Amino acid sequence: MSMDYMPQPRRSVAFIGSECYPFVKTGGLGDVMYALPRALTRLNCDVKVILPRYKCIPWKYQEKMVYRGEFYMDLSQDGRSYYVGIMEYVWDGVVYDFIDNEEFFGFGNPYTNLVDDIPKYCFFSKAALAALNYMDWHPDIIHCHDWQAGLVPVFQRTMFGGTPVAAAKTMLTIHNLRFQGIYNIPTIQFWSGLPDYVFNYQGLRQGYEDANMFKGGLAFADSITTVSGTYAQEIQTPFYGEGLDDHLRYHSGKLYGIVNGIDTDMWNPWTDSRLAVNYDITNVLERKKANKRALQESLGLAQDDHMFVIGLISRLTDQKGLDLVNEVLPQLIDGHTQVVVLGTGDDRYENSFRYYEDRFKGSVCSCIMYDEGRAHQIYAGADALLVPSLFEPCGLTQLIAMRYGTIPIVRETGGLKDTVEPYNANTNGGNGFTFDRYESGLLLDAINRAKTFYFTNRWCWDEMVQRDMDKDVSWENSARQYRDLYMQLKP
Ligand code: ADP
Ligand code: GLC
Repeated sequence: MSMDYMPQPRRSVAFIGSECYPFVKTGGLGDVMYALPRALTRLNCDVKVILPRYKCIPWKYQEKMVYRGEFYMDLSQDGRSYYVGIMEYVWDGVVYDFIDNEEFFGFGNPYTNLVDDIPKYCFFSKAALAALNYMDWHPDIIHCHDWQAGLVPVFQRTMFGGTPVAAAKTMLTIHNLRFQGIYNIPTIQFWSGLPDYVFNYQGLRQGYEDANMFKGGLAFADSITTVSGTYAQEIQTPFYGEGLDDHLRYHSGKLYGIVNGIDTDMWNPWTDSRLAVNYDITNVLERKKANKRALQESLGLAQDDHMFVIGLISRLTDQKGLDLVNEVLPQLIDGHTQVVVLGTGDDRYENSFRYYEDRFKGSVCSCIMYDEGRAHQIYAGADALLVPSLFEPCGLTQLIAMRYGTIPIVRETGGLKDTVEPYNANTNGGNGFTFDRYESGLLLDAINRAKTFYFTNRWCWDEMVQRDMDKDVSWENSARQYRDLYMQLKP
């Protein structure tokens, strides 16, 4: 009997994180919190996803949640008791438990400012563990995500010692090291109620007077993962380490890189109801044109099949390499090229893209908004997708682009390096166009190489489109690697 058919022992896993599609999503973390649990259930894992019950979760989901219980919990040093409600929603084999508390989650967006977010995620991390004990559900693994769940391993090993949840092994995944939950020690100590000894240099303390919630979690977790092999190496260097490179080098024995995938049912050009025309690898060349035309029409761009359409779908922050895009954009507009931007974020980028739309009417369209439907239409209608990030732990947009037959143009960093093989003219292989150093001239060169290839070597371009659609970007492989790690932690 081959290993593939051997039944695997069941493992139970509690996912704890601050966002999850379709309830609430601001970026790739939301996609991963949706797709990875589903992939794990197919590998005989029993998964519960624990999330805050933010007010912004659409009513159509709120109304389907079922009351699972409530209790009161200590948190802050002033001895107050806090309400913890548990609302449950079961969907496609995955159980979602929402932690309810009006005071912390009863307003607007998930993230506001650190003054509010620090107490909010101290509460959430502790309430998530307390809820597991309350529900009498004892997972083998507690899998935490990013700084918002960073205190979970710290609470588990200290204040929850001797309770049922202490038997679990913890894993903390770094999706983005830039955000860490740093504030002065008295504030974090007040809100978490954690004992003095965790505020040492091996634990939460950072610098003279600060505490760092992510840093503490990384120290206390049984295992650390991040979302690509290259980023796992990069974050151990000062340039990418965001001040934690020495801490991560110290803990490198328990640090692993596992590249993200995408949910290939959610991202499927053959069934995607948001597209003008559905397609697969057999008819992409013809049908992509129809999607391009529909995109041009809906965005007020000149409708012309022969245009090279470049898409950019991104949070508009420094991470994403947008200063490089701003520098080269005027040089891209040559009468044969159109640029479509979809994103929200920092004012300076929102405004510069608005400016370019105005300056290059009909050639540049800047959609300064968050719009799932439009994202799907750009993935399908564009010829190339730009991801020139300064750093990129994994990046999902290049994976989605490939699945939709759209050629990625990326900087060789983090997961972009691990997932996009540069075009090789000798072998006629590769999936996209890449550049290495963070320089606008190199970005421009990469775009021009792609453009020249598109206009002068369409036959090979089309082969690349089909090769990209054929590439395995699913969770299958990576979910197995997570599962193997769970088994290693809890044999
Ligand atoms: P990050 O998590 O750093 O933002 P990723 O590439 O991992 O980057 O994930 C981004 C996700 O958010 C993708 O699913 C992408 O399609 C989506 N996205 C980003 N900006 C927008 C937007 N303005 N409208 C719709 N979807 C967006
Ligand atoms: C982060 C990273 C992104 C990654 C995503 C999901 O937001 O910026 O590169 O793909 O998390 O892991």
